[in-house]
Amino acid sequence: MLVSAKEMLTKAKAGKYAVGQFNINNLEWTKAILLTAEELKSPVILGVSEGAGKYMCGFKTVAAMVSSMIEELKITVPVALHLDHGSYEACMKCVEAGFSSIMFDGSHYPIAENVEKTTELVALCAEKNLSLEAEVGSIGGEEDGVVGMGECADPDECKMIADLGVTMLAAGIGNIHGKYPANWQGLSFDTLAKVQEKTGEMPLVLHGGTGIPADMIRRAISLGVAKINVNTECQLAFAAATRTYVEEGKDLVGKGFDPRKLLAPGVEAIKATVREKMELFGSIGKA
Ligand code: 13P
Repeated sequence: MLVSAKEMLTKAKAGKYAVGQFNINNLEWTKAILLTAEELKSPVILGVSEGAGKYMCGFKTVAAMVSSMIEELKITVPVALHLDHGSYEACMKCVEAGFSSIMFDGSHYPIAENVEKTTELVALCAEKNLSLEAEVGSIGGEEDGVVGMGECADPDECKMIADLGVTMLAAGIGNIHGKYPANWQGLSFDTLAKVQEKTGEMPLVLHGGTGIPADMIRRAISLGVAKINVNTECQLAFAAATRTYVEEGKDLVGKGFDPRKLLAPGVEAIKATVREKMELFGSIGKA
């Protein structure tokens, strides 16, 4: 059964560890992440962007696949199915489709409009027992085709949004999606400390988990980050393993072309990446 992310994140914040959000793209991705979470007894959040939702034939298909997989694979750890960077319309669709968690990304609206739309969604999520993530200060990198530089959130705006009653808050602290450029300045721990001071118990979310050095991840967790999003790193691991399989000519040997064989090394690579992140985030054994 899918659960809201509220309880797992409240525990994570209190216990000074973070729960990973791993974005899914297809059946193999979902299976790899769920099996690793179960094996390591870790809570987990499956992230679905609007684009990935469309690719997987709509949010209803995704919710049905994930719910059935949890049952068929006998997954017992807490699993939240979460809309990543949703528009207001996508949030509504995911609530209807049976997601247990949504992110409303109102960071590109003027703060008054972000507040108004977030307030409406807070009421809806409370009624349905879903968790809601809000964003202040846009996360840099490529987000649905728009490339941003990773601005830092205003701690007072963070407090304003946190006080509306959202479950978790993503604050931009110089983090970006995708690979970090060589001249990246690193995370702004000064901003993070101020945001945490203003928002207290609110679990904070770190987007753009790919490529952030381990020491920065640990420091971010010590300053209140309780959810860390990882997407690109699983994609890179999957692609590299698949490339090796093909370059070694294994698809040309026997039934090596069978998708169940062809995609297997990529699935193992995703599992290894998820395991490594769960170790770093400290969520193993916390289910
Ligand atoms: P990365 O692709 O950089 O890991 O970021 C993932 C993310 O933040 C999804 O919202």
